Parts: sequence; C-alpha cells; structure tokens
Amino acid sequence: MVKTNWFKDAFIYQIYPRSFKDSNGDGIGDIRGIISKLDYLGDLGVNAVWLSPCYKSPNDDNGYDISDYRDIMDEFGTLEDWKEMTDGLHKRGIKLIMDLVVNHTSDEHKWFRESKKSKDNPYRDYYFWRKGRGKDGKKPPNNWISRFGGSVWKYDETTGEFYLHLFSPKQPDLNWDNPKVREEVRDLVKYWLDLGVDGFRCDVITYISKVPGLPNGKLGGDDMFTHGPNIHKYLRELNDGILSKYDCMTVGEAAGVTVEQAILYTGAERRELDTVFQFEQVAANAFFQVVPRKINYLKTKRVFAKWQRGLYQKGWNSLYLENHDQPRCVSRYITDNPDMDNNFRKLSAKMLAVAVYFQQGTPYVYQGQEIGMTNLKFRDENDHSDVMSKNILRLVKKYAPFLKGYAMNALQKVGRDNARSPMQWSADKNAGFSDVEPWLRVNGNYKEINVAEALSDPDSVLNFFKKLIAVRKGNEVVRDGTYSEPPRYENSRDLYVYERELNSKKIIVACNFRGKNIDFDGSVFGSGESEVLLSNYKIEKNPAELRSLRPFECLVLRAE
Ligand code: GLC
Ligand code: CA
Repeated sequence: MVKTNWFKDAFIYQIYPRSFKDSNGDGIGDIRGIISKLDYLGDLGVNAVWLSPCYKSPNDDNGYDISDYRDIMDEFGTLEDWKEMTDGLHKRGIKLIMDLVVNHTSDEHKWFRESKKSKDNPYRDYYFWRKGRGKDGKKPPNNWISRFGGSVWKYDETTGEFYLHLFSPKQPDLNWDNPKVREEVRDLVKYWLDLGVDGFRCDVITYISKVPGLPNGKLGGDDMFTHGPNIHKYLRELNDGILSKYDCMTVGEAAGVTVEQAILYTGAERRELDTVFQFEQVAANAFFQVVPRKINYLKTKRVFAKWQRGLYQKGWNSLYLENHDQPRCVSRYITDNPDMDNNFRKLSAKMLAVAVYFQQGTPYVYQGQEIGMTNLKFRDENDHSDVMSKNILRLVKKYAPFLKGYAMNALQKVGRDNARSPMQWSADKNAGFSDVEPWLRVNGNYKEINVAEALSDPDSVLNFFKKLIAVRKGNEVVRDGTYSEPPRYENSRDLYVYERELNSKKIIVACNFRGKNIDFDGSVFGSGESEVLLSNYKIEKNPAELRSLRPFECLVLRAE
C-alpha cells in the first residue's frame, strides 16, 4: 500500500443525510435517498463525499450522539443500503469520508449504560466520573462550560457522581487517557476501513485530551480541554496503529486552532492528521460561533492570507464557507446588502466560491451551497430543532429573559438549523425532498431556488460550480503554487485580489465583495498572454484594460 496524498486533489461534497433526500416518505433523508442522487454528484464533478454521521443514534444531536458505531441509524436504512451507496460512489470515482465522532458517545451507548451502573464496573473508566463539590456534594466538580451552554457536568443518582459532557448531557465524553478507549477507537476505525471507507472527518478532535485532574480553567475551561497535553500522542498512536496502513485521509475539526498548532497537526512528518478545519475565518465574523459580528471583509481576507502563507509547505488547509453548523454563505456574507436580489444572490454565491476555492487546500462544498441556498426564516422559537439553539433559548428564558429578542436575532443569523433545512431539489411539493412534511421546514424560497431550475439555467450557480470544479481539477498551480496579494489591493475593503504561482505559471483571482461597481486596475493581470478561466459576467474586453469590477464580479485568469 502506498500513501498517495489524494486528499490534495480532492473536491469534497458534504452530505447531511437527514436533510439530503427522503426515499421512503417519512420526512427524513436516508441512504436510499443518497443512492438516488449519485448521478447528480457524479455530474457535479466532486471526487469525494463527506457523510455526516449515519450510525445508530437516538438523535439528540442528529447523529453526533452515537449509540452503536458499527451499524446504521434505523431512520437512514441498513448496512446493506450503506454498502450499495458506497459501491455506487466508488463506481463513479467518488471516495467516501465518514464522520468519526469519538470525543463522546451517546448516553445510550452500551459503554455508557454499563459505566453508569457502579463505580467498579469495567466500563466506569471509559468516561469521566467525579464527586461533586460543596457540603452536599451537589456542586459540579469544576467550572467548565459546555459548548451548548451550562455546566459540562451532570449528576447521576445511581452512584451519586457527576459525569463530564462537553456537549449535551446525552453526549458523555470518552476518557482517552484510558488505553482501552483508544483501542476501541482503533478497532472501529479498522472496521470501517475494511468496509471500504476512504477517510474520516474527525469530529471535535482537539478536545479529546483533557488536563489530568480536570482543574478549573479560564474561559469556561477551554484551556483545560482544547489541544490538551496528550493530543499529539493520541493522534500519532491512531495514525501509526491503523490509519497509516490504508490509503485514507483524515480531516480534523479543530476549533480554536492557530496556524502554529495546525502545522503540528498536519505536518506530514508528524504522522497525525492530513488536514484540519480551522475556524478563524468564522471567528472573524462571529464570536464563539454564536454571537454574530458585522461582516468585515478586510479581516476575513487577512485571515485567509495568514493561513495561506502560514501553512505553505508545512501543513494542509481546508477551504470551506458552509457546513451543517454554519449559516448559508450568501446570507452570512452578502444579504446584509440592501441591493440584494435573486440576480445578485447568484452572482455573489459564485463570487464567494471563487474567493475561497482558488486558495491552497482541500475544498469542501456543503449540500445546497452549489445552488446558492439561503438561510431559513425562523418565525418563532418553535422553528428551531437544533439541540444547541434550543439550549441557548432555554438558558436565556431561565436566566435572562430580556435577551430573548437578541438571541432570536442571533440565531436567525448564525443558528445551525439555517443550513439544515431540506435540500431543494425541485419546485414540487416539499421542494422534491419528500412526499410528506419534512422533519425541518423547507425554505420558503424553494420554488425559485432548486436543483431542477439550476440544471435548466446555463448561468446558474450549479453550472458555475461544475465549471469551477473542472477548472480546479488537476491544476498544479492551484494545488502547489505560492499565495500572494498585489500590495495595492491588500488593504481594500471592497476587492479581494490574489495570485498563485508555480514555476512562473500564474493564476490570478479578482473578486468584488460589493453590490456596486468598484474601481479596479486591470493591469494587475499583467500585459502578457492571459486566458479567462472562469468569470460570473460576460467578459467583453481584454481583462488588462478593465477599469472597474461590476457588482459581485469575479474573474479567474491564467497568466504566463
Ligand atoms: C461538531 C459537529 C456538531 C456537533 C458537535 C458535537 O462540532 O460538527 O454538529 O454538534 O461536534 O458532536
Ligand atoms: Ca426517509
């Protein structure tokens, strides 16, 4: 077996199975639904799929709470369906990346059900159990705050102790300091690799090593459980023990990661992960992922540049604008603009794609992004289904009811259900997602924004994505070239211009973030031979003679 580093040439499509396509009329997306759309993925040109969790789960967090790692969620189908889907992907030259959620299990997992029973149960030490503080022992063992709000500790009557959960109380954290836990993880990774899986997206992987003794921390304990003392050791052990024996890839979800840390995680000689998702570009536009900030293009550009330069030849980046935890990019980055209309929506969805996907790294497109889907409109709190959003609303109601309006407004902008509304396949009932009313509301704009419409419109976002993927495929300048920005546009708040260069071959990208004409000097494209590889307007003159960019205009040029 030879490691081919295929992840550097991958263009990955993320599927959130619950919302992708329902095949059996229960309002919930499923694996046979995915099977019915394999040709769609093939035509798009992606060569890998990241599938959000499809394992057995009571669905407190839509599958990110796993009760059996080796079987498929009832609502999604069977292992036989999964095998058929995997074969179908492979036949089309598409690899499959599964979600690996091993910071925590479901509280309904056999390990946790055992662990709860008694202090001397053989599974006790698979999790973190601690005595409470205070006279009555009812105060949580430390001051850590859950990612979903509130304490990370939940009291359990059976043994009179608390267990640790960084996410919901139904997601108890696994104790990676226990070698048996690490063995279990290695075995389940092997199980899926032997079934033909090509890689893993490692959920919240930077949290798996906690500071021994679980002491109080600053900032709700982040410093005690993020990039903990044994993280690199555990990742290397997993890599050497199993991942290195297969030609597979890994991408770690790495909240709070800095460039320096990302190099430690992804440097090839370190044998840990292949790539990471960093969150700095998201943080530039929202605090803690939940408090939206006014979009700042200059800051966003600087974050991009910092990561491009910082990881060059030292690590490997992931390029994304959306996923199942983030709002839709046209809504987040663009619709604040009062000029927004459907035409601008299409132009800006294309422009954002160009701004990001010609950087160095592995690109990810999230289902629906390729047709320019927008945020869902929440009418009231009952429209929220996400465990995190609901918990925030519950805490606000209990401790700060006066903040309700603010919280609703924040969730409208950055709430996780925004991107989880059903995929819009057609103008038919329920957007062609299901015959019955789906588990989460369909976006009201589905008659205008849907795949069938996009297929019939040569100027659609979808057709643009197909071109973009084709242009990027196999392009060595995009894969390996340096990154730089012409100094005169580096500080622009309106335009984003960058160059990639390899062996004196260049790719130059120019994007207008604004819904109006912005002065631009086409001479940055150079005076030599050039070719427009991609643009979202008709280009009527020599790009070198351009004096402005039109609303949300973007261009990708090849220059010698
Ligand atoms: C990751 C997932 C998110 C989930 C959390 C807990 O951040 O992307 O959806 O809620 O981990 O597993
Ligand atoms: Ca279904």
